[in-house]
Amino acid sequence: MLTTKAPKETRALGEALADLAHAGDLLVLAGEMGAGKTAFAQGFGSGLGVETPITSPTFTIVREYVGRALALHHIDVYRLDSMQEAGDLGLGEMLDEAAVMLVEWGDAILPALPTDYLEVRITFGDGDDDRRIELTPVGAAWSARRRSISETVAPWAHDAGASAGGASDPC
Ligand SMILES: Nc1ncnc2c1ncn2[C@@H]1O[C@H](COP(=O)(O)OP(=O)(O)O)[C@@H](O)[C@H]1O
Ligand SMILES: [Mg+2]
Repeated sequence: MLTTKAPKETRALGEALADLAHAGDLLVLAGEMGAGKTAFAQGFGSGLGVETPITSPTFTIVREYVGRALALHHIDVYRLDSMQEAGDLGLGEMLDEAAVMLVEWGDAILPALPTDYLEVRITFGDGDDDRRIELTPVGAAWSARRRSISETVAPWAHDAGASAGGASDPC
């Protein structure tokens, strides 16, 4: 269980995880509206070397960005009405060799997605800016990277409920 206390911390986590990304990878971003899925995607994109600003794809559904070595397909399926619409997007085929795909609300359309992915689940914490982030590798491609994931995210790993100190918010 990871925690962040500001949007920039969630972006920094995304940026760090981008270093582990391979061509053809899928990340499923789960969490309520305003949890920080797009914030995570922005950091992930900068980690891939995307220089254009990453905005929410809620209305466009799919946005594509060019990174240093890997492209980023950033998708938000919130507005899709059915599994059929999700299937029609052809997300599986979109995962070409030189791209990574991030799907906001991807947990709602799992049958339309490849079965290897890293689930990034963001939930609200106690304070307005507190978030809890849980990473779950599903399938061999990400499970094989468990150890490097743990090492990469160590700076965001805190005991639940513990304060790292320095926070000025009253309890
Ligand atoms: N720790 C945090 N991590 C991510 N976002 C945070 C955090 N604290 C506050 N926020 C705010 O929450 C909102 C997250 O929005 P966004 O990333 O668009 O969410 P989503 O894509 O999940 O709907 C932003 O307004 C951001 O400033
Ligand atoms: Mg979003």
